[in-house]
Amino acid sequence: MGDLEERINAWHDQIANMTPENLEARRDVELVIAKLDDGQLRVAEVAPSGEVIVHDWVKKAIMLLFRLHGLEKSEAGPFEYLDKLELKYDYERRGVRVVPGASARRGSFLSPGVILMPSFVNIGAWVGPGTMVDTWATVGSCAQIGANVHLAGGVGIGGVLEPANAVPVVIEDGAFIGSRCMIVDGARVGKGSVLGAGTILNPSIPVIDAATGEEVSRGHVPDYCVAVTANRRREYPGGEFFLPCVLIIKRMEQGETHDKVALNSLLREHGVAT
Ligand SMILES: CC(C)(COP(=O)(O)OP(=O)(O)OC[C@H]1O[C@@H](n2cnc3c(N)ncnc32)[C@H](O)[C@@H]1OP(=O)(O)O)[C@@H](O)C(=O)NCCC(=O)NCCS
Repeated sequence: MGDLEERINAWHDQIANMTPENLEARRDVELVIAKLDDGQLRVAEVAPSGEVIVHDWVKKAIMLLFRLHGLEKSEAGPFEYLDKLELKYDYERRGVRVVPGASARRGSFLSPGVILMPSFVNIGAWVGPGTMVDTWATVGSCAQIGANVHLAGGVGIGGVLEPANAVPVVIEDGAFIGSRCMIVDGARVGKGSVLGAGTILNPSIPVIDAATGEEVSRGHVPDYCVAVTANRRREYPGGEFFLPCVLIIKRMEQGETHDKVALNSLLREHGVAT
């Protein structure tokens, strides 16, 4: 990928001067977007060490895309859109089920077995096999969602484009994210973990283990935890207030599935809940 990477970095150095007329830059950027769309490239991935590696040159290509495309009109039945980026297509070949009202932008990657209820997946996002993106959930730009994850109704996974080296939100394999959770700014949920409905997680929210009272991280729920939103007392000159935290109420065994979540998967397999 060496040459392409170098060229994208060079185009990005001149991003302020980029216009749709710059066909050479457009060709390079389109190549990156096509590779993202097919899953040959990713914006970020979890290394075997557990660290999140961000390929910032790929993100730079996405930023360039907005400069290199003018607005184009498109229509679907009575609906009209005006946007710079294309939508994804060819779902049958990809083995992805898409319920009317769902849209994903070209340059996001959806693995086989993904189900999109009416929801939105932005460019640069990567969604693993068997994952369910439930109704009104949003997967922000560059977010990395693992295999067999359930993003329940209304979940907001934040997008991270700039700066190019910013770590995106990572939801690891088998996680269950309860309804209306908001996970933003490079926060992370580990493998098999369950986040209770309505939890807010960002890199400054403490994650506290209820069994010990210990703050285990900020913005990172470890693997195989059941965690819910809670409040912690804070003293300010103006008085005592209660700020949110994420409380780990249970630790599961590696590979274990929470009973309530198991029920959800069962309903999904039999098409009851979808
Ligand atoms: C997180 C969850 C799985 C916990 O279930 P559980 O392990 O059986 O835990 P319990 O229901 O026994 O609750 C444990 C404690 O956490 C509290 N709690 C449960 N869910 C909570 C939530 N979302 N936020 C804050 N506190 C919560 C309970 O009140 C209970 O407190 P208590 O010990 O004082 O009684 C479940 O409550 C939840 O939020 N599920 C997600 C539902 C959802 O989004 N479904 C989507 C369908 S598509």
